[in-house]
Amino acid sequence: MSHQQELHGEVFYPPEHIVAQANLPDYEAQHQAMLADLAGEWGRIAEENFEWFAPWEKTLDESQAPFYKWFVGGKVNIVHNALDRHLKTWRRNKVALIWEGENYDQRSLTYHQLAREVCRFASVLRAMGVQKGDRVTIYMGRVPEIMIAMLACAKIGAVHSVVYGGFSVEALHERIEDSQSKVVVTADGAWLRGKVVQLKKIVDEALLRSPTVQTVIVVKRTGEDVHMEPGRDLWYHELMKLPIADAGCHTEIMDAEDPLFLLYTSGTTGKPKAILHTHGGYMVGVATTLKWVFDLKEEDTWWCAADPGWITGHSYIVYAPLLLGVTSVMYEGAPNHPFPDRWWDIVERHGVTVLYTAPTAIRGLMRFGDAWPNRHDLSSLRLLGSVGEPINPEAWKWYYRVIGGERCPIMDTWWQTETGNFMITPLPVTPLKPGSATKPFPGVDVEIVDEEGDPVAANEEGYLIVKRPWPAMLRTIYGDPDRYVKQYWERFSEPEKGKFIYMTGDSARRDEDGYIWVIGRVDDVIKVSGYRLGTAEIESALVSHPAVAEAAVIGVPDEVRGSVIKAYCILRAGVEPSPRLVEELREHVGHEVGPIAKPSSIEFVEKLPKTRSGKIMRRVLKARALGQDEGDLSTLEE
Ligand code: WT7
Repeated sequence: MSHQQELHGEVFYPPEHIVAQANLPDYEAQHQAMLADLAGEWGRIAEENFEWFAPWEKTLDESQAPFYKWFVGGKVNIVHNALDRHLKTWRRNKVALIWEGENYDQRSLTYHQLAREVCRFASVLRAMGVQKGDRVTIYMGRVPEIMIAMLACAKIGAVHSVVYGGFSVEALHERIEDSQSKVVVTADGAWLRGKVVQLKKIVDEALLRSPTVQTVIVVKRTGEDVHMEPGRDLWYHELMKLPIADAGCHTEIMDAEDPLFLLYTSGTTGKPKAILHTHGGYMVGVATTLKWVFDLKEEDTWWCAADPGWITGHSYIVYAPLLLGVTSVMYEGAPNHPFPDRWWDIVERHGVTVLYTAPTAIRGLMRFGDAWPNRHDLSSLRLLGSVGEPINPEAWKWYYRVIGGERCPIMDTWWQTETGNFMITPLPVTPLKPGSATKPFPGVDVEIVDEEGDPVAANEEGYLIVKRPWPAMLRTIYGDPDRYVKQYWERFSEPEKGKFIYMTGDSARRDEDGYIWVIGRVDDVIKVSGYRLGTAEIESALVSHPAVAEAAVIGVPDEVRGSVIKAYCILRAGVEPSPRLVEELREHVGHEVGPIAKPSSIEFVEKLPKTRSGKIMRRVLKARALGQDEGDLSTLEE
């Protein structure tokens, strides 16, 4: 890319050698080509880079919009492309996964070894009666078996539903119930900061009310004593020793539009929604975005430090790296355990070339000072990445200077569980502005609009929307297609004109150079340390406690975590407020939803600001908490 265009503000240009080797050298040409012929370009990419059992008849079917279909009639299996096809080449002996436990346990698996484990566990699942289309809940820490279990499901056409190991009883129960899973794959526990998270115990509690589950398969990670329910619970390592763990399991031939996984995410109502992704479009989208944005080459060592339990982990720990045939690192534990240089130690020892993490982690590690990273040789790094929330320029610059040694461009990728892959992001050739996710990925047609849906002027804030479909987009909310339409498509679409607009739920502005600055959520979603939480989930956990009559929660800014939760509770008659009750309520939310959802502060109040129709005005609470103007109060009850 040439530097002819004079850019405003502080700009960081990519080094020449990075530009020279970029997998996609000409962003603008590719973007324009894709906007001009979306189906044609994606069709070409899908054909050139993947093996299909049978070709598709139609690349993009818009006839049922917003229920879009991609590669209609095509036969494929994402696991065939992520594993099976590599076994025919020298890549069979290449390391697919370098795993490191928090206690420094080490394991690595070649493509051959990983494919074999996946085959064997897929056979076990089949023997347990799991069939094509069945849902399997996976609830585990960051261990290779989570990847093996996900891929084994996909291989036999089962639909995995991974629940993040940081969620707790009620959250897990709801997700098992909603997906009607017959099988749960879990572990006895997981290591975090030298302590054991008792996953199996949480599963046992969640299953008390989930009669659909017939089988629980338990990976032994910590070796601590756990309860094993006779007739229901089986050890993974024992099953894998039996003849049913057959390494000859065939890969199911799937329709491109067959479901691959469900992933629950928080929205504006209490009930979490199951975002559904499919084999064909998702495969094409995640691999292409990773290849172009992080510029991965055969010899790279890629480390996405997210958790496989979130979309970042699904797309960029499990599927995309394997589709590209690269070597990945997975680390089990906390970034500051036993010392704040654990990550930098991992980068050095494994020779990581591309590191992808979240602003909250960067800010957290930045607090420990430069000495920790400085004692490590981080010269293997070539590119860096950020995801989850806007990255503040201060953290961006620290990451750039101290971790990247001023050599490594930072890819600030904006996307969502729903989008499946990166949507607004630099490429290695893009001049960077700290805090901006820069430009749409090629072919992604975004706009920033006002209340009426009209584009806003440069530098003005508005709703971030997407105007054209993309292959890895969500297909629906599992079991609730109406909610899918309402949540994402109703606000700005004009179906009578055949116009469908995807609403992201974020606000953003575009500067005079066309750079996009994502501001944050405009709905009742709060990002705590990059984790997505709905106000309603936390509020319903609070009111499920006998002391609480009503509750409202808001996000307030926090230097490290981005936002933290502040809760307001009206107590039931006769209940006295006390510091002990605050602690009890925090623990209660931790038990119901998960430790990440615990409010940082709880205030007991007599009343909550409500509209005349009875809706809590969180906006007013937030303004009060931040000492800001309360804005238009005309709808307030009194
Ligand atoms: C929300 C989606 C996509 C993987 C992780 C999050 C926020 C995400 C960025 C970014 C500013 C960002 C948005 C978005 N977000 N990445 N680079 N800059 N904001 O997935 O849990 O579905 O959350 O995260 O608010 O809507 P998710």
